[in-house]
Amino acid sequence: MAAQRGEFRSRLGFILAAAGSAVGLGNIWGFPTQAASNGGGAFLFTYLVLAFALAYPALMAELLIGRHTHRNMSQALGALPQHAGLKRIGMLTGIGGLVTASLILSFYGIVAGWMLGFASSYPLEAIGFTQSAEWLITFSTPRNLTLTGIFMALTMSVVVGGVEDGIERWSRRLMPILIATLVVLSLYVLTLDGAMTGLSIYLRPDFSKILSGDLLIDALGSAFFSLSLGVGTMLIYGSYLSDNEHVPSVGAQVALLDVGIAVLAGFLILPAMYVADARGVAIFNAAGGLLSEDTLIFSVLPALFSTMDTIGLWLATAFFILMSIAALTSSISMLEVPVAYLIERHGLSRHRATLIAGCSIAAFSGLIALNFERLFGLVITISTRYGQPLLGIVVCLFAGWLWHRDALLAELKKNDTAADQRWFWKIWPLYVKWICPIIIGVILVRSIL
Ligand code: PFF
Repeated sequence: MAAQRGEFRSRLGFILAAAGSAVGLGNIWGFPTQAASNGGGAFLFTYLVLAFALAYPALMAELLIGRHTHRNMSQALGALPQHAGLKRIGMLTGIGGLVTASLILSFYGIVAGWMLGFASSYPLEAIGFTQSAEWLITFSTPRNLTLTGIFMALTMSVVVGGVEDGIERWSRRLMPILIATLVVLSLYVLTLDGAMTGLSIYLRPDFSKILSGDLLIDALGSAFFSLSLGVGTMLIYGSYLSDNEHVPSVGAQVALLDVGIAVLAGFLILPAMYVADARGVAIFNAAGGLLSEDTLIFSVLPALFSTMDTIGLWLATAFFILMSIAALTSSISMLEVPVAYLIERHGLSRHRATLIAGCSIAAFSGLIALNFERLFGLVITISTRYGQPLLGIVVCLFAGWLWHRDALLAELKKNDTAADQRWFWKIWPLYVKWICPIIIGVILVRSIL
């Protein structure tokens, strides 16, 4: 079975693929400004603690269930309990994950398309195609439809290659490029006037800010989105992990890479914003907070790049390629969720499954693009604010309450005969049983109210 399903060839391949899923637009366009506006170094510290105390156990629930069952989320959650009713709930939760992953991909694909547009507009402009370059960076429905279509086609072309020759191969190629680009861009920006102000604002700890409950909730929400939890992406990647791997430590490496790259992105974004400030570009909103997300990426940074000459062209192109790569390695993990389900549950070939899932999601993206004002925000809220935490709770409950302790220990002992002596075995089962569902539940209720 395992050989037929596909399996990551190497530990590094798995870590890069899972970190590729985790490291996405959220790490770069959200995290740095969120940190700088909310206590700087104190926020970084809190985020790190939360990510390891709460998001990591939830990540482990997905990875371990996946590795244990070697199935997609629906069949995996259906296989854990004995009781027929609970099996049905498990399978339905898996379908919920599939739908939520598809919804996330449908809006993510649109934003990723904008990144492709910006990445290609700079070189086009340089060789004189000014009108095309302008079209690529100006908001319009035809542009959104075209670029989303291209991005979805790229995503499908990776996923159709399967686990080893598609997902693993491309993650191994793209993730090192992403990290290297981020490091080089940060080092360069740090040499410019104003950069040190940004850096000190990013790192200066202000503990008074982080004691607010709302902030902790926001931080945990971002950690959940950032680790791609709840929707079955980590579960399906875990299901392709060899039985010889030690899941608690590879999971920790994935979480560390995700947090590490988010922190590293701060070394680029905050200094860049203050370099822009020094050159007269507006970086604060009306309320005095730092501009973030789409305004940061599509207005502030392009304005900064335009204050530089040729080097600005190179920086801009490299930056938007970086964003496109971050989006692509995340989107392939989202598409793999429905694709694996169609293959394993309905017996489709990978080719057909990719075509059907990819085209359906692209069609839904098209619908969003055509009704942008009405649907874009709504789909984001439903999928990330409610869908992800709700599904995350169910996954933790399944791992904590419905997975027999002996079977769980046997799973951990597959590659560590002393697993029952480890801290992981002493703490984690209690954690997923009680602490994760309660805290995620509190966050969910507060965000609904
Ligand atoms: N982790 C991605 C990011 O930080 O941008 C987003 C994401 C990917 C969410 C995959 C959910 C998912 F299934």
